[in-house]
Amino acid sequence: MPSKSGYHPETGRFQTLDQFVIEQQERFPHSTGSFSRLLRDLSVAAKVVNSDIRRAGLLDVTGASGDVNVQGEVQQRLDIIAHTEFVEALKLGGECSLIVSEEHDEIIPIEPMGPESDGSYIVLLDPLDGSSNIDVNVSVGTIFSVYRLPEGREPSLESALQPGSEQIAAGYIVYGSSTMLVYTSGDGVNGFTLDPLVGEFMLSHPKIQVPPTGRFYSIDEGNSAAFHEGLEQYIHWLQYEQEKPQAHKTRYIGSFISDFHRNLLKGGIYMYPATPVYPQGKLRLMYEANPMAFIIEQAGGRATDGERRILDLQPEALHQRTAVYIGSTQMVRTAEAFLRGEGPPAS
Ligand code: AHG
Ligand code: MN
Ligand code: MN
Repeated sequence: MPSKSGYHPETGRFQTLDQFVIEQQERFPHSTGSFSRLLRDLSVAAKVVNSDIRRAGLLDVTGASGDVNVQGEVQQRLDIIAHTEFVEALKLGGECSLIVSEEHDEIIPIEPMGPESDGSYIVLLDPLDGSSNIDVNVSVGTIFSVYRLPEGREPSLESALQPGSEQIAAGYIVYGSSTMLVYTSGDGVNGFTLDPLVGEFMLSHPKIQVPPTGRFYSIDEGNSAAFHEGLEQYIHWLQYEQEKPQAHKTRYIGSFISDFHRNLLKGGIYMYPATPVYPQGKLRLMYEANPMAFIIEQAGGRATDGERRILDLQPEALHQRTAVYIGSTQMVRTAEAFLRGEGPPAS
């Protein structure tokens, strides 16, 4: 059951995503409805990808595609399927003039569909996050980030390379034990659960706030030999030196979205530092770190590269990577203090 708080007092029903977005947009007198249509396009693609993922062991869609993407990573067949579904839905919708995707080296400019189409948005996508988990039935997701095409600018690489602070919306879909779409357009974070019988995303988690601290820490400890001394000390402090023994628990799935989603709802920190294999960090700034940083800040949390606010980083390349420390504010601040060599906060 969706939580009672998602209940719409006027209609006596749970609100659908479409109803919610239209209601939000009506608060702005000059709104054209184009953002509502863009979100609708994204949610339609999400439903199609959801249906592929739900039948992944039955349809012939699992396994590697045989190709390698621009990051030198093996593409899974579902990476390509999800990329194609989202790009096609956005092309058909006509609200966006430029797409950037993890699964495509260059920008994807979109021809206007006709005089009706506005094309004022730029959308960046991680079509399938955590795709190494597909074949083993573990939660995966989609991440999206939305910018405005700057006034008078052509859809070009330069217009795509905006800092995360310029995002007008960001969200993700987690294909988990239920399928959820969580997004922000700069006025808080709201979560919608897909009702598979009705076929609609219903408002189930209104006004999400991340707890200021939490029990969970998420990091690939397989990389621990390469951890910065401060990071090693922070993890040791989480494990042994807090007042309550076992105050913290490790949770690391290998799908950023799933780890993020748990930590968002329950309180926690996700960390992916620079490593010898990934000297800049592993996660991609434009379509992994920035959208999740926007969401976590809107939920009252914090996201940095260990030092600098993620949203202030000026991107120089579409697929550039960054170190990420993201989640409950107190936990991220403490991690930063350890990285600076200052040790734990005075309590
Ligand atoms: P993607 O599947 O989109 O390439 O992203 C994978 C990312 C992220 O989802 C996850 O947290 C991280 O890679 C896992 O990396 P390790 O296997 O190095 O821990
Ligand atoms: Mn990813
Ligand atoms: Mn991906």
